[in-house]
Amino acid sequence: MRSLSTFFKKEEKSVLHQVDALNHSLTLLRYEGKLSRAQNVKIATREISLLTKTLKEHRSLQEKVIFPFLLRHIPKKEPVIGFLRSDHRMIREYKIKLKALLVKISKNANAVIEAGKIQETGIYLVSLLRHHIEMEKENIEKTIRAELDKDEKKDFERQINRWLKQHNNGKR
Ligand SMILES: [Fe+2]
Repeated sequence: MRSLSTFFKKEEKSVLHQVDALNHSLTLLRYEGKLSRAQNVKIATREISLLTKTLKEHRSLQEKVIFPFLLRHIPKKEPVIGFLRSDHRMIREYKIKLKALLVKISKNANAVIEAGKIQETGIYLVSLLRHHIEMEKENIEKTIRAELDKDEKKDFERQINRWLKQHNNGKR
């Protein structure tokens, strides 16, 4: 069974790794020019699909298991959880926006306007995600360490591991 701290470290690492990969692909798209554009659009599209998969699991586990558990045991965390939930919605919105722009630019060789919008949306999405992960580290991990007792931590671990097993065959 995975411990809580291992779980959170792995989760954080996997999201940030995907975010860095997306960021890199957007940098290539920006600086490598028109000749490599089709190839770079393809890479960015692949990166955003991988990120989407990771974030879907991240969001579902947090919203179905982690947030309700914290709200039950530490009700004073309600405002911050509300904020993290709205962050999830905003991240999703920007991800969809970026995907649509990548589809648009792939169909238009002279898409100067889309190229600018892709950079703008991409930079916003990347910083939103980095900030989100940082906030969760501060507000979820630290709270768990400080405010849950041994039995509550064990119970929390069990619930997270059960969810992971049901949804990913324990692969994560
Ligand atoms: Fe989150």
